[in-house]
Amino acid sequence: MSEIDVGLEVNGEQVRARCQPHDTLLALLRYRLGLTGTKEGCGEGECGACTVFMDGEAVDSCLVLAAQCEGRQVTTIEGLGRGWPDGLHPVQKAFMETGAVQCGFCIPGIIMSAADAITRRSDAAREEVRRLVAGNLCRCTGYTKIFDAIELARDRVARGEVRPEA
Ligand code: FES
Ligand code: FES
Repeated sequence: MSEIDVGLEVNGEQVRARCQPHDTLLALLRYRLGLTGTKEGCGEGECGACTVFMDGEAVDSCLVLAAQCEGRQVTTIEGLGRGWPDGLHPVQKAFMETGAVQCGFCIPGIIMSAADAITRRSDAAREEVRRLVAGNLCRCTGYTKIFDAIELARDRVARGEVRPEA
């Protein structure tokens, strides 16, 4: 099958990549661009390990065809911290501080979903936080610390303790 050429913005940089017509955005990121922070779990939209932002919205990259990404803007875990102090998004920082990581496989996807969630719902209580990241599964089941970390980041952002750099 002949390859196609896809041009898109990834983490603030314009890139072009050759891929198969059936390749997913996940495959494009991991295997064509070497951005392996985005994980491949189920490949069916069930686990959230592959979550990235496309045009500012959290999506399962295993469900998006690379061919659909022409001209789109994609952010992966590698680019999430751009513009934040120390190059870390508040959710990334909170995960580090609370030790909310076990094997780490699910963590990039959960951090992407959590960053999306606290941007949309900075007043979300714990039950709401749980609902907002319900599409992300952690096989290590370390959910308590994961939710603690998300709430810590949510509170810091809501209180204005951490802001994007100008
Ligand atoms: S790998 Fe995409 S949702 Fe599981
Ligand atoms: S930390 Fe291991 S799968 Fe979530």
